[in-house]
Amino acid sequence: MRPFIYAANWKLNKSPRETKAFFQDFMAAAGGANAKKSVVFFVPALSFQAACEATEAAAAALGMSTAPKVSARSAPALGIQNAYFETQGAFTGENSMSVAKEMGAAWVLVGHSERRTIFNETDANLAKKVEAGFAQGLKVMLCIGETLNEREAGQTMKVVETQSLAALTPTVRAKLAQAPHEFALAYEPVWAIGTGKVATPEQASEVHQFLRALLTKELGAQTAEEISILYGGSVKAENAKALGQMPGIDGFLVGGASLDPKAFQAIISA
Ligand code: PGA
Repeated sequence: MRPFIYAANWKLNKSPRETKAFFQDFMAAAGGANAKKSVVFFVPALSFQAACEATEAAAAALGMSTAPKVSARSAPALGIQNAYFETQGAFTGENSMSVAKEMGAAWVLVGHSERRTIFNETDANLAKKVEAGFAQGLKVMLCIGETLNEREAGQTMKVVETQSLAALTPTVRAKLAQAPHEFALAYEPVWAIGTGKVATPEQASEVHQFLRALLTKELGAQTAEEISILYGGSVKAENAKALGQMPGIDGFLVGGASLDPKAFQAIISA
């Protein structure tokens, strides 16, 4: 069965010191309560080591297991928000997925709308990153979603279909047939990100069901059923319950509300 995933996207927020303080509060507030939920934090690369140390220390204090980190029954998993598809070489300023893996990352986030729009990442570029993530033994969460203009022009399904299909290369399809739990889609309407304008549960669910049907058509029902599809865009404790009950919504990717330990806990317990 596909897991319900609570994913935090910190974006360019939190220094190593702030990261440590966050996890002390977050893990203490969670106690054992969230131990069986699948929680992942996409932290800034420069704070990754601090996140590893903080989650390990807090988990040990709470008697939780950190080995293996990817287990849903252990301390929160950690991921990186972006990395290059080459693992080493003359690529000044880039981060390596193999180094992230060595440091303890379980996940890589690929194709967030800020990467697509601000950093001009293309579908072709992102497909290479999905393949590279799998090649390095990372789980991959691929973000897709339409802009307001695209929604108003009635292009929502076409946009998310194009973005999804671009990532389903033959290599990726072969991987998904073997290990569907190592991939997740995050549907994030761009107009709902950081705006406080959340998609209605019906709007979100309509797209999620479209995506499930698309995955079924492309990958077969058995594989498609195992892939979690998360919703992201202004998720808060107040709207998490109604969204999470909708058919086809298998988790949340949370930006702003994941920066506060209590606010993120409240989403996980909603
Ligand atoms: P938000 O961000 O929750 O602040 O809207 C979500 C995201 O960008 O992943």
